[in-house]
Amino acid sequence: MSVITKASSAAATQPATEARGPSSVPAHVAIIMDGNGRWAKRNGLPRVAGHREGARAVRRSVEASIRAGVSWLTLYAFSSENWRRPPGEVLDLTGLLRHYLRTEIQELHANGVRLRVIGDRERFDPDICEALREAERRTAGNARLNLIVALSYGSRAEIVSAARTAAVAAREGRLDPARLDEHLFEQFLFTAGMPDPDLVIRTSGEQRLSNFLLWQAAYAELVFLDVLWPDFSGAHFNQALAEYARRERRFGTRPS
Ligand code: FPP
Repeated sequence: MSVITKASSAAATQPATEARGPSSVPAHVAIIMDGNGRWAKRNGLPRVAGHREGARAVRRSVEASIRAGVSWLTLYAFSSENWRRPPGEVLDLTGLLRHYLRTEIQELHANGVRLRVIGDRERFDPDICEALREAERRTAGNARLNLIVALSYGSRAEIVSAARTAAVAAREGRLDPARLDEHLFEQFLFTAGMPDPDLVIRTSGEQRLSNFLLWQAAYAELVFLDVLWPDFSGAHFNQALAEYARRERRFGTRPS
């Protein structure tokens, strides 16, 4: 696993499509957006200011994905563990989500972005649930970029829930346990019908998955960037894509 420290090389400023040809561009990029709190602290600001700047970086990552020809972008915006943060911060984060849904959907829609949510969305206030449903409905016909936002998401809970659904289907005679293989099991995950991520990026220098897409990222390339999420730019995105293009993916097979 390599850690990239600076978005300074020439390749980093170019989308990987231009640098290496289309086959080296990941179809699906997933991002663990980390470092909002540290960014705020570093700048002598309240944590909410870091989250607000983080929302601007979300827009930059969407734009960079479209420019690079990435078809799927999954963002880890709120983990199931985030509910345990101080109530004031949870309120700030959910307020920001509400604001984002009000102000950004029109532009996402105009840019051909299809928005979908994975996670235990029913834990959010009813007005947010309704806004999420409406955003998904409104953008359902778009195909330029699939933007998946992980909200109240935890990978272990997702896998347990999938196992429970499969078990109930088996008990009710709708599923033959002998037929349950990886492909069928995936149909019970939040991500049913979506491709696995090819590349997982985490910002802020931390190097872990934090309960994010544990099943789906089984063969993903991991790139850790030493940049705090609010400072994340299109150049950082392209730098991660360039690093991805240098990797040899073998999916568990032998070197060629
Ligand atoms: C991690 O930073 C980030 C989060 C917990 C939330 C991510 C939220 C956003 C980027 C903004 C809102 C997004 C949308 C889609 C509206 P941290 O607070 O854990 O940072 P730290 O580790 O430095 O404390």
